[in-house]
Amino acid sequence: MKVLFIGDIVGSVGREILRDYLPRLKRKYGPDAVIVNGENAAAGRGITKSIYQDLLYMGVDVITMGNHTWDQKEIFDFIDESDFLIRPANFSVEAPGRGMVTIEKNGVKLTVINLHGRVFLPPHDDPFWLAEELIEEAEQQSPLIFVDFHAEATSEKIAMGWHLNGRASAVVGTHTHVQTADARILSGGTAYITDVGMTGPYDEILGMRKESVLYRFKTNLPVRFEVPKTGRPVLSGFFTEIDDETGKAVTCERIYINEDYPFVP
Ligand SMILES: [Fe+2]
Ligand SMILES: [Fe+2]
Repeated sequence: MKVLFIGDIVGSVGREILRDYLPRLKRKYGPDAVIVNGENAAAGRGITKSIYQDLLYMGVDVITMGNHTWDQKEIFDFIDESDFLIRPANFSVEAPGRGMVTIEKNGVKLTVINLHGRVFLPPHDDPFWLAEELIEEAEQQSPLIFVDFHAEATSEKIAMGWHLNGRASAVVGTHTHVQTADARILSGGTAYITDVGMTGPYDEILGMRKESVLYRFKTNLPVRFEVPKTGRPVLSGFFTEIDDETGKAVTCERIYINEDYPFVP
């Protein structure tokens, strides 16, 4: 199974570059499944029902989330009936939604798991122990398991990669919005990248308008970060091919598209 993952979609600029390039990426990589992180899809903050439906319409199979999961209050009304929208599994047991979903493509099952880091982030439940439990459960269905670990610290993400080495087919990091250059297959057959990076405004600061972020840095005064609706976009992704029998990754590569690094068909 070939899997294409797209990092944090930020606002309308992110959604539009995805709409523009997904058909080209599908032609180039031929993915059986497309996963995107949608935690910033609604103007940088969370996701709405119409954006969720629009992403599915574009050809996305599963949407993962992160620390911005609850930013749009309407998510409480639709997350429980949204089969292909998952939020970090180690959120409170009281939280609505689910942290894992199994999909089937061309007769092959793939489980997607979303987890949240705890370093420099709110103290959610332990993602390391939970990952083991969820993988045991997922293995009942299929050895193909894809993990989006939404975390800040590179060390925590690398640790999760090695923790799940040979047990998950892929472990990708999200949240920092900056792509790392360390895509590789770990010794046990786990495709890995510390952070996929974001998909949104290219000439800003992590997708937020740079003037507002600079104001915060220079003054330490409260300011609302805005996400520009126009400007040059960047798309950040990760592709991996997984052996259907063993669940081991056989290839992986990072994808980074913008005016400085144009798409090569
Ligand atoms: Fe994000
Ligand atoms: Fe995040």
